[in-house]
Amino acid sequence: MKQTIDWHSFWARERQGFHEGDVNVYLRRHLPGFGLQPGDAVFVPLCGKAVDLQWLAGQGHPVIGVELSPVAVEAFFEESELPYERSKEGPFTVYRSINITLYQGDYMDLRPHHLEDCRLVYDRASLVAIEDFNRPAYVCHLLGLLPEPVPMLLVTLEYDQSKMSGPPFSVPLDEVRELYAPAYRVRELEAVEQIDERPRWRETGLESLLERALRLEPTA
Ligand SMILES: C[S@@+](CC[C@H](N)C(=O)[O-])C[C@H]1O[C@@H](n2cnc3c(N)ncnc32)[C@H](O)[C@@H]1O
Repeated sequence: MKQTIDWHSFWARERQGFHEGDVNVYLRRHLPGFGLQPGDAVFVPLCGKAVDLQWLAGQGHPVIGVELSPVAVEAFFEESELPYERSKEGPFTVYRSINITLYQGDYMDLRPHHLEDCRLVYDRASLVAIEDFNRPAYVCHLLGLLPEPVPMLLVTLEYDQSKMSGPPFSVPLDEVRELYAPAYRVRELEAVEQIDERPRWRETGLESLLERALRLEPTA
């Protein structure tokens, strides 16, 4: 994947409008529907310092995350006040806490052994953080990483990309279907109009900002 967005400077300049201070509503609402068992691991690609990581671990799921920015990973542990151990493993600096393992480095360097016990992928603000020309490589790498096809909870945004540049980018439902076909069937769980919640986006001329929670199920 060609890295064209300078994520390090987003973190250095504390420009993290994408960070939610609370657990994601769709995660909270839809996780039970996936029927995970305690001990089933969840993979969170491009995890930032999402509080979802700690929440998932609190639900009894080992969490595996990958994040490019050391600033984000360190902030996660500082803010969550979780003790951790740090080690160097190949291209990654690995932060391990009880039930949370964060690989700090490039997502494209992950290998299948990193995700051995993964039973669910939770992608919020990750696919939509990637430029359109990089999305096929992102998805292809993800499918190659999973030890077996597992369900995914994917949160996307859809808006008029001509009115605003990303990230986050608009990733319409049809594009998600194309990216994940034929390995996955995509079902919409919710589509929520968010423009009234984001006045700064409306100021750009946008009239709609649709947030979708999608459930992806392996076809085989
Ligand atoms: C929009 S943020 C979303 C973070 C998180 N998913 C959340 O919901 O808050 C995207 C994150 O992806 C990280 N990132 C971008 N490219 C990456 C890569 N190639 N490998 C690992 N992380 C990456 C960025 O540093 C950034 O923290």
